[in-house]
Amino acid sequence: MESPTLCQPLLVPIFEVSGAWTPLIATLTPLISTRANPAIPDCDLLVRQHRTSPYLETTSLRGTTPFGNLPRRHSSPCSTPTWGWGPSVVDMTRGWPYIGETLQLYSQDPNVFFALKQKRYGEIFKTHILGCPCVMLASPEAARFVLVTHAHLFKPTYPKSKEKLIGPAALFFHQGDYHTRIRKLVQTSLSLETIRKLIPDIETTAVSSLESWASGGQVISIFQEMKKFSFNIGILTIFGHLESIYRKQLKENYCIVERGYNSFPTSIPGTAYSKALLARKRIREIISEIIYKRKKQRLMEKDLLDHLLNYKDVKGDTLTDEQIADNVIGVLFAAQDTTASVLTWILKYLYDDQKLLEPIKAEQRAIYEANEEGKKPLTWGQIRNMPVTYRMILESLRMSSIISFTFREAVVDVVYKGYLIPKGWKVMPLFRNIHHNADFFPGPHNFDPSRFEVAPKPNTFMPFGNGVHSCPGNELAKLNMLVLIHHLVTKFRWEVVASESGIQYSPFPVPMHGLPARFWRNE
Ligand code: HEM
Repeated sequence: MESPTLCQPLLVPIFEVSGAWTPLIATLTPLISTRANPAIPDCDLLVRQHRTSPYLETTSLRGTTPFGNLPRRHSSPCSTPTWGWGPSVVDMTRGWPYIGETLQLYSQDPNVFFALKQKRYGEIFKTHILGCPCVMLASPEAARFVLVTHAHLFKPTYPKSKEKLIGPAALFFHQGDYHTRIRKLVQTSLSLETIRKLIPDIETTAVSSLESWASGGQVISIFQEMKKFSFNIGILTIFGHLESIYRKQLKENYCIVERGYNSFPTSIPGTAYSKALLARKRIREIISEIIYKRKKQRLMEKDLLDHLLNYKDVKGDTLTDEQIADNVIGVLFAAQDTTASVLTWILKYLYDDQKLLEPIKAEQRAIYEANEEGKKPLTWGQIRNMPVTYRMILESLRMSSIISFTFREAVVDVVYKGYLIPKGWKVMPLFRNIHHNADFFPGPHNFDPSRFEVAPKPNTFMPFGNGVHSCPGNELAKLNMLVLIHHLVTKFRWEVVASESGIQYSPFPVPMHGLPARFWRNE
């Protein structure tokens, strides 16, 4: 069995069943099975007791926690428990032995699942999913504690099968020195200074995508098409102007990796996962060839590949081709489905509410006319001054919260506000719950871009995460969206032809069937 997987930034289904965490789960199983014991106190009762008397709660928990992590006087380096009796293991929620609440999570919208839990248990609660104890954190302070102020006590945690496919040297699997160094390179290649130079290429890619959608009058899946758009920009960011043969080869193999990523991980030949591992190997070979050529021609680009090639650690060692490939695949993974999902939601929100579309059209039309009916290219200044469109993007990021939560693992026993989070437990800051909390975003289910006329309260808006692992591609993602929307609303129109409403998880939430639609060029 493998852990619940994350939907960020690695684009995985919400849960997966496979091999990597087997030892952990095997150790836990006998303990977990104590949950079947009818003598175990009602977890809800424990929660109530906990709120009234920490001591009572502590004693009643003793021996009843499924993992045997009995409350103890804290030894954590990070904080002082707020109660004199020592910290308590975070409140439990109900669930079957071993599988915990996995079935519930599978059988209902995960957002409803988390929201119900929060309503019932408050802002910090525990569940266990596929045998792994998880602490869920639904308050901005708790998320900040884990991701920012005490980030060193929590490491990123991913299933081994995913790590193998992306490549273990990809930055988001790491913390500490290696992570800091690689992150710096990625940040530099995605800095405002760098990405503003990409505007002409992003415009060309956006216009040619829109032209192709409108060309045959056929119904397309917006999500699938947005994926192609984001992939092409990802390639541009990493490799600059890459020969089309390499682009084609990378795309073919990347699609195979992606299919395998979302499948059952087994090395049995012929399965999607084993094909993905082979495709991954081919990607590495293609990247090695590109590196070889680049070195031979002494090409000095200012793209991510160039930065990775110039990496040197403290001893002066450079990165191997394998490490470079891991990070290239990692960035592609982090960039593609995320941007594509948000763009798909944007087109849905705008189509569903034409009143919303009008002010955006007006804003973009004014820029279009200033640019002589689009004959002149967009400037950086214009893109940085699209307040109406920008607020709509922020509201789309909040509403869709495509990265609903992230995962970390406690590297030591940690005490947070008197709760003990034992070493090895997973913690999940729940971004979506925070974004949909009426205390921070009144009327949270209404799509209202004007709420962003005032900056959100600190740490309540985290579509790109927070802290040391927060998204280095956030400015590029927003740039892509602004450019695409500009060309879309000034030159094209679209009609959603979805026969079914609803959301699918692929693995990020997107409108059903990727939002089928038709596009036309305006006369
Ligand atoms: C709308 C689009 C995007 C969203 C919503 C998004 C969201 C996120 C979030 C929430 C994280 C932090 C995950 C965590 O803390 O576990 C993250 C990390 C990351 N993102 Fe994005 N992202 C987007 C686009 C991009 C793009 C375009 C790129 C690159 C071109 C990118 C590259 C990365 C990388 C490399 C990381 C890992 C950073 C680290 O571990 O230090 N993302 N993203």
